[in-house]
Amino acid sequence: MSRFIARTVLVTGGGRGIGRATCLRLASEGAAVAVADRDIEPAREVVKEIAATGRTAVALQADVTQAQAVRTLVADAEKALGPLHILVNNAAATSATTIETTGEADWDVEFDVTLRAAYLCMKAVLPGMVERGKGTIVAIGSVNGRVYVGNPAYSAAKAGLVMWVKAMAVEYGPKGIRTNLVSPGSIRTENRSWTERMERDPQIFEKLARWYPVGRVGTPEDIAAAVAYLASDDASFVNGAELVVDGGLTAGMGPFVQEING
Ligand SMILES: NC(=O)c1ccc[n+]([C@@H]2O[C@H](COP(=O)([O-])OP(=O)(O)OC[C@H]3O[C@@H](n4cnc5c(N)ncnc54)[C@H](O)[C@@H]3O)[C@@H](O)[C@H]2O)c1
Repeated sequence: MSRFIARTVLVTGGGRGIGRATCLRLASEGAAVAVADRDIEPAREVVKEIAATGRTAVALQADVTQAQAVRTLVADAEKALGPLHILVNNAAATSATTIETTGEADWDVEFDVTLRAAYLCMKAVLPGMVERGKGTIVAIGSVNGRVYVGNPAYSAAKAGLVMWVKAMAVEYGPKGIRTNLVSPGSIRTENRSWTERMERDPQIFEKLARWYPVGRVGTPEDIAAAVAYLASDDASFVNGAELVVDGGLTAGMGPFVQEING
């Protein structure tokens, strides 16, 4: 497919995991990609991978929780690639697993990177997109924003992101900008949470698979494919939607159904 020929995209947290897979997927369909990450080295590696396929990419260092850094990031991305057509708001992290262990600093960090960064990045790309009357924004949510599965501050922030995306869709849809959300289930990445869980239990993904009606947890590529759909013209009538990509985890309660049916 070549849905993103002559399109430019900025992916936050593009150096690893879902962000990396999204950069590679959109580039494979023709996009020129700004790979933004707080850690520049992994972003540079992604750029190398993209360059090896003959596509264009640039690595940009930025902490997306910082307003000035985000403004500079968008300006640098546009200087390198031209006006931005697509923003993928992906960077996020969580560490506090329970309410008891959620300190004020955890609350601030998790809300900042999940919600404030989304607000900052979207606000920064909006003027250009509005001027051109065209743009697409995809935010990465989580099943944590839908049902409680641990990490309370992160979950509350992800739930907030759902409403922020709806607000964007309603206020900026008339200006030619579509905003949507992809909400992944458990995705096999090396983020901090999964690394800690893997250290505790190397079989964690296999154990979790039984909760998933499709019999497995997800891959970064599963999410990248959903992002690519929402970012493309195939989704030109999709605005303000939450696309849940969780193998059916939140469709119901499988173990409950098994119990009740005997
Ligand atoms: N992995 C999962 O199971 C899962 C499930 C649901 C939702 N998600 C969401 O998907 C997204 C990506 O998760 P992942 O598992 O790929 O994470 P990851 O840790 O593998 O990658 C995230 C990247 O974001 C970067 N980053 C973190 N904070 C940043 C900041 N302030 N500024 C700039 N870059 C920053 C990191 O350096 C890293 O390269 C997140 O929004 C996460 O909440 C992940």
